[in-house]
Amino acid sequence: MNTVPQVVDAKWPTHFRDAMMGSAPAPLAMLVRGEGCYVWDDAGNKYLDFLAGIAVNALGHAHPVLVDAVSRQVATLAHISNYFASPSQIELAERLRRITGAGDRGRVFFGNSGTEAIEAAIKLSRLNKGRKRIIALNNSFHGRTIGSLSITGQVALREPFEPLLPGVEHIDSTIEALEAAIDDTVAAIFIEPIKGEAGVVELPEGFLKRARELTTEHGALLILDEIQTGVGRTGSWFAFQQSGIVPDAIAVAKGIAGGVPIGALVTFGDTSDLFQRGQHGSTFGGNPLATAAANAVLGEIERAGLIDTVVTKGERIRAGVLAAGSPLVHEVRGAGLLIGVGLTEPVAGRVAKEALALGLIVNAANGTSIRIAPPLIVTDAEIDEFTAKFTKALEASV
Ligand SMILES: Cc1ncc(COP(=O)(O)O)c(C=O)c1O
Repeated sequence: MNTVPQVVDAKWPTHFRDAMMGSAPAPLAMLVRGEGCYVWDDAGNKYLDFLAGIAVNALGHAHPVLVDAVSRQVATLAHISNYFASPSQIELAERLRRITGAGDRGRVFFGNSGTEAIEAAIKLSRLNKGRKRIIALNNSFHGRTIGSLSITGQVALREPFEPLLPGVEHIDSTIEALEAAIDDTVAAIFIEPIKGEAGVVELPEGFLKRARELTTEHGALLILDEIQTGVGRTGSWFAFQQSGIVPDAIAVAKGIAGGVPIGALVTFGDTSDLFQRGQHGSTFGGNPLATAAANAVLGEIERAGLIDTVVTKGERIRAGVLAAGSPLVHEVRGAGLLIGVGLTEPVAGRVAKEALALGLIVNAANGTSIRIAPPLIVTDAEIDEFTAKFTKALEASV
């Protein structure tokens, strides 16, 4: 158990509001520690965490393997700049080549977040035969920095910051729209295999396969945003591995280091030759501390066989949600442990609030969608606890 003393002032909401930038949402609680699938607030209340820091805490909270790896690395060598190599960086790059299937023709760029992985991919796409057109999907989310925001398919997020990157077009997630949009002028298409921020929304059947065919035919890059779907969350290391296609690049972040900030762009095949020395970089990207954390997390996922259990656990959660028999639930979406509950009424915020009051963290991704993304270590007993609490939260929200 984490026994680090925490100094908490009861007036923290006021301090937060006064000190934090106005862009920050109002916090739901003050969390002071975590262990496994549980977190505790400043008043000692315990919550079952079925959001996992938005699909980040793959091993839950304070996992001994991560604690040990980070503690040892920070006591050895935390940061060195990208003028030097470190063993943990090379180990992670090689591990990513292996688990993505990119193999010997794969290359890895390290940044510190999801949006930086996407920024790297946008720059990469500019190197594709000098083309400037990018296709992205309506309702997608790729991050908050200007490049990532430009390709994010949500007008309300983009509008206040226009003008954004030129040459970006958003299309509906239909095969017809894909066929109409892609030609020999397109540099790249960016796709989330499942749209997480949109409320865990799947692509139509055959969409990724058709995107692969069309991009290959027209010399455009197929770039997948696996920031939320990656690292085992959908039942395979990466979601694309269930579709039978091979992309040109994938963006990875969130779960990769269990909460230590890191992002990566992994390229496949000839796309690995596009970036030339000095064309991209990051001070912190791939430093020994973050890469040691990622090696520990990915190694533990593998050692414990966690990915093998993801689909069964996801099915137990789905069954629990459906068994609640709530008139508010009209569908359960997603794959593995990335689940969206589609509601008949715009009461997701209410459901999430009721759940929190019952000691359960779930997320209102939008008015009509609850997002569920527990740590991959979640147990059947914890899923049953979730079901009981979520059922009550639904009942209280009708
Ligand atoms: C699919 C997807 N892409 C990109 C991002 C941006 O990642 P970050 O917040 O680490 O910059 C997110 C974050 O929610 C995401 O879900």
